[in-house]
Amino acid sequence: MTGQPRIGDVFGELLRDAMAVATGVGPRPLAGGRLPRPVIEVIERDDGLINGAPAAHYLDGPADWQPHDHRAVDRVRGDTLDIGVGAGRIALLLQEREVPVTGLDVSPGALAVCRRRGVRDLVHGTVDEHAASGRRYDTFLLLGNNLGLIEGRERAPAFLAALAAMARPGAQVIAHGTDPYGTRDPVHTGYHEYNRRRGRLGGQLRLRLRYRELGTPWFDYLVCSPEELAGLVHGTAWRLVDVDDRDAPYYLATLRLSA
Ligand SMILES: C[S@@+](CC[C@H](N)C(=O)[O-])C[C@H]1O[C@@H](n2cnc3c(N)ncnc32)[C@H](O)[C@@H]1O
Repeated sequence: MTGQPRIGDVFGELLRDAMAVATGVGPRPLAGGRLPRPVIEVIERDDGLINGAPAAHYLDGPADWQPHDHRAVDRVRGDTLDIGVGAGRIALLLQEREVPVTGLDVSPGALAVCRRRGVRDLVHGTVDEHAASGRRYDTFLLLGNNLGLIEGRERAPAFLAALAAMARPGAQVIAHGTDPYGTRDPVHTGYHEYNRRRGRLGGQLRLRLRYRELGTPWFDYLVCSPEELAGLVHGTAWRLVDVDDRDAPYYLATLRLSA
């Protein structure tokens, strides 16, 4: 016993349990061995902040989505790569609309949940690994705040280059981000300052996720303003062509492959 979590497939385990709670099928986490308990994703930040978020929303159908999710899906066209597909909520609606969609995820357990829910085309891996497959796409989705996967100044060029390598002419990226700078909460403004002092973007979160006895390694996840995103995209194969911030502080950024 080290007091530290065992490194494992946190997303996969929590999505499997969330699905068991939602469907009543399969072993569920129980309180006191009797009562079903909600599945909570525990998010640790490297300043010691801990948050818990119910995992059930990863399974939500369109009726329970945020408005920006609907607007994102309405912008999809052509062959689509859903990056960080999670439990497949977006991919399932695209399949229903007969959009050819591939779900990509690093979590084997998330892919297993997707498969059980009926997502047909699934790939295990990162965008860099998938870029080697030779498959090409017209739309790349980074939904459920997954703009965060661009991580920060160091990772963004390589991440965007991997997408460009898989992009057909005229391809687009539709990414859901959150502008972190509207808050006055000193826990967050202090963290943004701490990050800048160590040469990072203010909202470049250093996180690890935990579920039950499992944890992920520490990783970077970016929450940035549209202006910071424009800076990260500048000089890559992509142009930031639209920011829809009708649900501010959330926004949908559209990038287009430069001609
Ligand atoms: C916040 S969830 C979003 C899920 C889904 N997009 C949605 O909107 O419900 C993040 C997902 O991204 C996956 N993920 C994390 N890092 C990844 C990476 N480097 N490449 C691909 N998927 C990743 C996780 O396993 C998880 O399923």
